[in-house]
Amino acid sequence: MSLDSRLPEWRALQAASRSARQQAWAPYSQFFVGAAILTESGEIVTGCNVENASYGLTICAERVAACSAVASGMRRFRAICVSLDGPPLPCGACRQFLVEFNPDLILLLDDTSSDVGREPELVLLTELLPRPFRLEAGSR
Ligand code: THU
Repeated sequence: MSLDSRLPEWRALQAASRSARQQAWAPYSQFFVGAAILTESGEIVTGCNVENASYGLTICAERVAACSAVASGMRRFRAICVSLDGPPLPCGACRQFLVEFNPDLILLLDDTSSDVGREPELVLLTELLPRPFRLEAGSR
């Protein structure tokens, strides 16, 4: 199935993610990452990585986008695009963070070294994080 039919909004999501990447604060790693979440209601919320001199405090672009969406009252995520100059793959912490809001989330992996408008790779969160840890209501 084509990306256009699976996620018709992919171009807008890719553009937003690439634009967010411009805001990345990554003076230590020089690894500039952008992310854009598409909510169920069709809104797009972005994030970029924010590094810190105390390295462990660094926050990934995906989690910044997720926190921004939640803080704006949006908790139902349909897809996330991650943009990076190279092959992007969310870290394990971000996979766990995203599964909270949609275990069936669609991910678009956008390598910015390819042309704008070129289709990013589509993967599912279920492929990247099989058998995630979850606290289901009533399970304890
Ligand atoms: N980073 C992200 O923003 N997202 C990922 O999925 C992987 C890593 C950031 C964190 C740090 O600022 C830099 O990339 C290098 O790890």
